[in-house]
Amino acid sequence: MSYYGLHRDPAAFGQDVETFRPERWDSVQPGQYDFMAFGGGNRVCLGQQKVLAESAYVLVWLAKAYSTLESRDSQDWKGELKLTCKSANGRKVALSNSQTCSRRMDTMRQGFAG
Ligand code: HEM
Repeated sequence: MSYYGLHRDPAAFGQDVETFRPERWDSVQPGQYDFMAFGGGNRVCLGQQKVLAESAYVLVWLAKAYSTLESRDSQDWKGELKLTCKSANGRKVALSNSQTCSRRMDTMRQGFAG
């Protein structure tokens, strides 16, 4: 089975499935065997809930801590297809601190030092 093909099924994810549009998750409701990043059935990943909770925590923390996220790649995205699809060349990104965040980080540092 190809997870790459499965996760690009327009019937489950919409006709614009090739477009990067994370908001699609507000409206799509893939069935148990339409989205299988964690497998399914009796051998489903036991770490799934842990990973989803920790990922949400880290993403929210990053969104609160940094005001901008920019691509610093010199080349276009190139996929590498194995069991799943990943970036063949890695990704260079820059996270920038907002002033609010710098102040928050200073407060945290003082807290740790004290
Ligand atoms: C993004 C992170 C992860 C992804 C995408 C992932 C994905 C998967 C997939 C596809 C399987 C195979 C399911 C199948 O055979 O149908 C699996 C199995 C498993 N995963 Fe994960 N996993 C992740 C993280 C974790 C973590 C953090 C843990 C433990 C803390 C974990 C524990 C397990 C275990 C124990 C199995 C074997 C379940 C079994 O065969 O009964 N996984 N995972």
